[in-house]
Amino acid sequence: MRKRLRREESGNIKRVTIKDVALSASVSITTVSHVINNTRVVDPSTRQRVLHSMEALGYHPNNVARSLRSGVTKTIGLIVPDASNPFFAEVARKIEDYGYQQGYSVILGNSDNNPEKQTNYINTLLAKRVDGVIFISSGGDDKELLKFSESQIPVVVADRNISLELADVVQVDNEQAGSDATRYLIELGHKNIACITGLITLSPSMERIKGYEGAMKMAGIPVRQENIIVGDFTTLSGEKAMESLLAAIEFPTAVFCFNDMMAIGAMAAIRKAGLSIPGDVSIIGFDDIELASLVVPPLTTVAQPFSEIASYATDLLIERIKGNRTEANQRVVLKARLVPRESTGRRG
Ligand code: RIB
Repeated sequence: MRKRLRREESGNIKRVTIKDVALSASVSITTVSHVINNTRVVDPSTRQRVLHSMEALGYHPNNVARSLRSGVTKTIGLIVPDASNPFFAEVARKIEDYGYQQGYSVILGNSDNNPEKQTNYINTLLAKRVDGVIFISSGGDDKELLKFSESQIPVVVADRNISLELADVVQVDNEQAGSDATRYLIELGHKNIACITGLITLSPSMERIKGYEGAMKMAGIPVRQENIIVGDFTTLSGEKAMESLLAAIEFPTAVFCFNDMMAIGAMAAIRKAGLSIPGDVSIIGFDDIELASLVVPPLTTVAQPFSEIASYATDLLIERIKGNRTEANQRVVLKARLVPRESTGRRG
């Protein structure tokens, strides 16, 4: 990192300070501070002069010193299971955008649904004194979240149904969405309908199974346990799960995959078996990542409200950070939306 240093007449090397910037721009130190912290409107030409002096002298505010003084780092921690999964990547990106618009930087960490790794990140974020933390689909021990309340650091949990004693919660009505997806397949005439679940320990998986079983029961179709295959939200697990379903003498004519990544893997297995989509097997996914509309045939799926999840989580957190929200933790439940495309068809 380029040091904020300058050589004096005596030849000594000296660190550039806010005082040097004030002298160079012919303003007070207070004015320089207002420009850096946006704490007061500064005349545009004066502001430009200060910024030019900072650039010319290579001056960068000392954020650590500033946060020690103010107790505020203007930083949000964001923990996701796996940012290589487009669902988490899209939500994380929107959280960063919303946070940045409100003057916050975001520190992103991947927990891999590994409780030990998640605990390490929790301790790192506590040590960095972040102003607040958003967990997406935290797979660790929820009680770990209490460490933040003990440190008066607000927490919001998204995409996970946890107790409100731990955090504000933003989630999707996964049971309704699972029911809608299954009912859609039933209305296409399918009866032998399987599902490939995500990590079974996560509430979104458990709720989607409830929706699937409820819709089948409502239609009077018995649920076969061999038609419920546990995946882990990756494409590979979707492909392997589909291979095991196709090995059955009478394989399912429709499969509800609990995310698009597994649906894409399942589609690969169907093609490798020389079968057609949706002619032989209809496939429905979940999330509506960008890829879903680009695969062939385009994937029928259930669209998660990425922007709403991100904006509610970010706004709830920042309002807590600023002290504007002191009431009890809140649960926001959002609706996912069925998006019919060509990967589903009427039962042949
Ligand atoms: O694609 C990742 C899945 O895990 C999403 O459906 C999301 O809800 C999370 O639970």
